[in-house]
Amino acid sequence: MRGLRSSASAHQQKLFDGPFNHSIIKRAKEKGLVEIHLHDIRDYAKNKHKRVDDYAYGHGAGMVMIVQPIADLIDKLKAEREYDEVIFMTPDGILFNQGTANRLSTFRNVILLCGHYKGIDERLREHYITMEISVGDYVLSGGELAAAIVTDSIVRLIPGVLGDETSALSDSFQDGMLSPPVYTRPADYQGWKVPNILLSGDEKKIQKWLLEKAEERTRQRRPGMLEE
Ligand code: ADE
Repeated sequence: MRGLRSSASAHQQKLFDGPFNHSIIKRAKEKGLVEIHLHDIRDYAKNKHKRVDDYAYGHGAGMVMIVQPIADLIDKLKAEREYDEVIFMTPDGILFNQGTANRLSTFRNVILLCGHYKGIDERLREHYITMEISVGDYVLSGGELAAAIVTDSIVRLIPGVLGDETSALSDSFQDGMLSPPVYTRPADYQGWKVPNILLSGDEKKIQKWLLEKAEERTRQRRPGMLEE
């Protein structure tokens, strides 16, 4: 994957400063492994006051993002390059998981559209949006934090982003299980001991133990994952 485009207002874009300008994502950008472009929907509003929202027809649900600025922005982006998906961040989208992160990390270009207020005009969803993602069954103030979560989880999967290529593959969820517990030095911290088996040097036994612990943890915390 090369290019990620997020659409949000200038004010909301500040929410991306932290996540996109530190650590792994920052390094990935510096190495040229990913490009992230932020677009302010307000810049595309053609009305006098640069309004991007209006009252909902039919019920007092609150403000809804209007069609024109978002349609113009997406049209402009699509005229410049091809996109694999135009994704709308919304609590009623499909629940984001590692499988979706893996799939998105193989794409060249995606648009992440961040909604606000009560959502976006349904006609945008019908005519532009190819995928809708929720990061959990709770409501955020806007899609930006959700987009940051999705971006982080896919950028770390792009080859070359993590120093050790195997470390993303050994993440929790990658083999349908949670990760086993991990330990580091000292082997004895004030009487709290690292399990002997990890110090034994017997690689076969260690692997077997790690698998057992991963299964145990998954059974206790996410039994549904084992059934899948
Ligand atoms: N926007 C508001 N809440 C959200 C959620 N849970 N997931 C994705 N986008 C959202």
